[in-house]
Amino acid sequence: MKKNKQLGFATRSIHSGQEPDPLTGAVTVPIYPTSTYVQQGIGENKGYEYSRGENPTRTRLEENLAALEGGVAARVFASGMAAIHAVVSMLKAGDHIVCGNDLYGGTPRLFNHVMADFGLKFSYIDTTDAVNVERALRKNTKMVYVETPTNPLMRLSDLAAISAICRREKVALAVDNTFMSPYFQQPLALGADLVVHSTTKFLNGHSDGLGGVVVCAREDHAEKLAFLQKAAGAILSPFECWLVLRGVKTLAARMEIHDRSGRIVADFLAKHKKVKKVLYPGLPDHPQHALARRQMSGFGAMITFDTGSLKNANKMLKRVRVCSLGESLGGVETLISHPATMTHSGLGAKGRAAIGITDGMVRISVGIEDVDDLLEDLDQALSAI
Ligand SMILES: Cc1ncc(COP(=O)(O)O)c(C=O)c1O
Repeated sequence: MKKNKQLGFATRSIHSGQEPDPLTGAVTVPIYPTSTYVQQGIGENKGYEYSRGENPTRTRLEENLAALEGGVAARVFASGMAAIHAVVSMLKAGDHIVCGNDLYGGTPRLFNHVMADFGLKFSYIDTTDAVNVERALRKNTKMVYVETPTNPLMRLSDLAAISAICRREKVALAVDNTFMSPYFQQPLALGADLVVHSTTKFLNGHSDGLGGVVVCAREDHAEKLAFLQKAAGAILSPFECWLVLRGVKTLAARMEIHDRSGRIVADFLAKHKKVKKVLYPGLPDHPQHALARRQMSGFGAMITFDTGSLKNANKMLKRVRVCSLGESLGGVETLISHPATMTHSGLGAKGRAAIGITDGMVRISVGIEDVDDLLEDLDQALSAI
């Protein structure tokens, strides 16, 4: 076989780290539900000593995800939040982190209510303009942390421009790539140092397990994160690693359908008379449509739209039948949610107003059902308004 880098994305997702089992020829990676490994003598082993440190199913998943993001290594964790926690645990008290002001709500919750007590300093800024990032850097800034597109406002950050600043100032750039998946966006190729995913979403793709990953461009980061896996122990179980290995095999195929249907649903909503506004980078009136075309190879499945009020949003959400009302995203099924009372309730009314999240906003993660069924369902639900 050609080397990983020369193989296409879909081929890598199916074969990288997923080679047939050398012992039996099994075409799927075996699940190794073992806590420990027999050693041949003192200091003599087959590379595995204790499963908090290393597990063969996990090794295979980490190889696979590193190949998909183009990193030197990947480290998987028990959830997306555990992965983000590991990223900021690489820093020490007094270090400063510049963050986007429109991150997934759980991330500022971790930063402000846990990590700040350990002496980390955070600034939240509008990273849609790279100049703001440059201005926010301090002497003690060690990391810039962004999500693009953001959740739920679908704002983009210019990764090439931000990474040029970070490189010049010797600051690490970490990017949460959950919304796009490596299929549509490759932050490491644009100069980022670390890529984070909640594998719970598109990488797993079937809404049947939580998980997180950090993919590294640098060996020193990969080593530190492996140390944190062993030291802190928030690792992904062999069974859940296997679920992601299985899910990721269809990532390319799923993302194509997510993207195709995402564009159709966004167009439909943009023309619907009950919808006030649609936020989707694929729409030509999105303020950063040109950047989206340049930085991403698809627009994806995530759409936010405004129904005008909390009352309207509630009426509509009660009526959906094919779409399921629930938190999360990236599964084969269409999930629809209400950011103000769900993912972003922790920000408070003032915090939401400050960044532009309204009570009428609804977020949809377009699944891979027949798109006509989705349009019909949305139409009948919107007719309740
Ligand atoms: C963009 C993003 N990052 C991180 C997370 C956290 O991931 P997890 O729920 O797997 O801990 C989420 C969860 O919704 C998310 O949407």
